[in-house]
Amino acid sequence: MITLALSKGRIFEETLPLLKAAGIEVLEDPEKSRKLILPTNQADVRVVLVRASDVPTYVQYGGADLGVVGKDTLLETGHQGLYVPLDLNISRCRISVAVRNDFDYAAAVKQGARLRVATKYVAIAREFFASKGVHVDLIKLYGSMELAPLTGLADAIVDLVSTGNTLKANNLIEVEKIMEISARLVVNQASLKLKQARIRPMIDAFAQAVTP
Ligand code: PRP
Repeated sequence: MITLALSKGRIFEETLPLLKAAGIEVLEDPEKSRKLILPTNQADVRVVLVRASDVPTYVQYGGADLGVVGKDTLLETGHQGLYVPLDLNISRCRISVAVRNDFDYAAAVKQGARLRVATKYVAIAREFFASKGVHVDLIKLYGSMELAPLTGLADAIVDLVSTGNTLKANNLIEVEKIMEISARLVVNQASLKLKQARIRPMIDAFAQAVTP
């Protein structure tokens, strides 16, 4: 059995065409079913639905042979023992610093002020501000980061930006782009060895189907 770990939403939707290129069709719609294990048209391939941040854990410990996960999550949770053979070029966005549109970020940085930064991406933010020599107090949040500067919880946030609509709707502006993000294929190293005959052709089919 080959088990592929996916998270619901964009990653699931955008992985479907890649699976199709490998001859795999998921037989149930996760938006209509409460099932966490979805069968496919291939009797020996199944999809498991997990939280995005749990995908590396499932693959690392062999709960899944393969997974699809954003680079943001991989960097934040680490990827020891994972083989990361492909940038799938899906779920593209960027991770950026944003502030209230009346906050003078450039001046605060120039003055060497200590910034309060709220984020789900503490490791990425810590490394970014350290590389710039900016002193920050990081506040870990699990969602709705946009609220932090609006309520006085923080001066800035580090969050994913795609269309920019969420920032705009909350009177925030993007002041620095930290990095481009896209989803990666991750593979359990033992699975790659033991199930090579099945997994290698899947990786090759995905690679062929990736749109540059
Ligand atoms: C992400 C991110 C922003 C939003 C940005 O949230 O946290 O809130 O998307 O997208 P936009 O620039 O197109 O408006 P997501 O919906 O992925 O959920 P999350 O809050 O769980 O991260």
